Amino acid sequence: MPVETALSGLPRYRLVPGPTPLERLDRLAAHVGHHGLYAKRDDCMTLGMGGNKLRSLEFWLGEALARQVDTLLVAGRTTSNQCRLTAAAAAKSGLHCIVLHNDDTPAKAEGNLLLSRLYGSETRFLGPMDEDERSRCLAELAAQMEGSGHRCYIVGDPVVGALGYVACAAELIAQAGEQDAALENVILPGSMGPTEAGFLFGCALAGAPFHVHLVSVEYGIDRLAYLVEDLFARLCAHTGVTPSVKPASFVRYHERYLGAGYDMPTPEAISALETVAALEGMLLEATYTAKTFAGALDLIEQGEISPESATCLIHTGGVPSLFTQAGALGLDRL
Ligand SMILES: Cc1ncc(COP(=O)(O)O)c(C=O)c1O
Repeated sequence: MPVETALSGLPRYRLVPGPTPLERLDRLAAHVGHHGLYAKRDDCMTLGMGGNKLRSLEFWLGEALARQVDTLLVAGRTTSNQCRLTAAAAAKSGLHCIVLHNDDTPAKAEGNLLLSRLYGSETRFLGPMDEDERSRCLAELAAQMEGSGHRCYIVGDPVVGALGYVACAAELIAQAGEQDAALENVILPGSMGPTEAGFLFGCALAGAPFHVHLVSVEYGIDRLAYLVEDLFARLCAHTGVTPSVKPASFVRYHERYLGAGYDMPTPEAISALETVAALEGMLLEATYTAKTFAGALDLIEQGEISPESATCLIHTGGVPSLFTQAGALGLDRL
């Protein structure tokens, strides 16, 4: 079934004008002895410095505007890409935005936090707490705001957010066809699941044209697979469409590039970040994309991805974080 049919009727507010580039990485490919490496440059969007969450925001904003809200509420760590992009989308669509951070007030605004504030959002610091408590604070804030006459939308529903990557799958399939890329493998970070499940759902609707490799950057395989498959099932319910192809038939999970855990850099990720920057002039960051690229390069070197099979990495963005990570990565030394 065409992806457009599955998405038709769902509210969407366009924030990403046109397809993001599908770029050949010839120098990186030569470095690892591969013959067809590509990056889908979702870090190259005009709004808010781009990234995967902007595709999700098209559907979150669609719902918010259909409900005629005046305020977007979002929560995350001070390093959150989703908070930064929500602030940018709020600026662009003329909505007020309040960002709750489950961190202490930092000494200075930098990286994503700097940008969220420049985009005009109100940033508040709750102190360290887990995600459940943070969600309770966000719900309380929504209730308070509604009580004083505002109409609020809480950004972050994972099923609605996943729709962005259903659309991305369709975009990549069309683009690969136009560029004669004959892609066989697509590699993306495996984290909380919405990006991954949406992409798999879009691929499944199109008859699974690629093997999809998820490089875990947050959880072990069992948890990641549970999150992705649960969201895939919820996407079927949300869209009313169940693809005949099941994700298990074309997805592979890889957990050996995670290192000590989420946000903990590995030497291989730091090396991938440096190599990709030096060979392709393309920036990665330590939390998501450097680990994913490190995984991809290793899968090629180990022969798990054939050097002959055209392979695309999805660059999901997050580059503003690099400017707060350089010290921890040891990249700021002259
Ligand atoms: C740059 C980047 N890549 C990947 C991800 C993971 O996306 P998801 O939460 O949909 O798994 C995120 C999440 O914030 C991100 O910011």
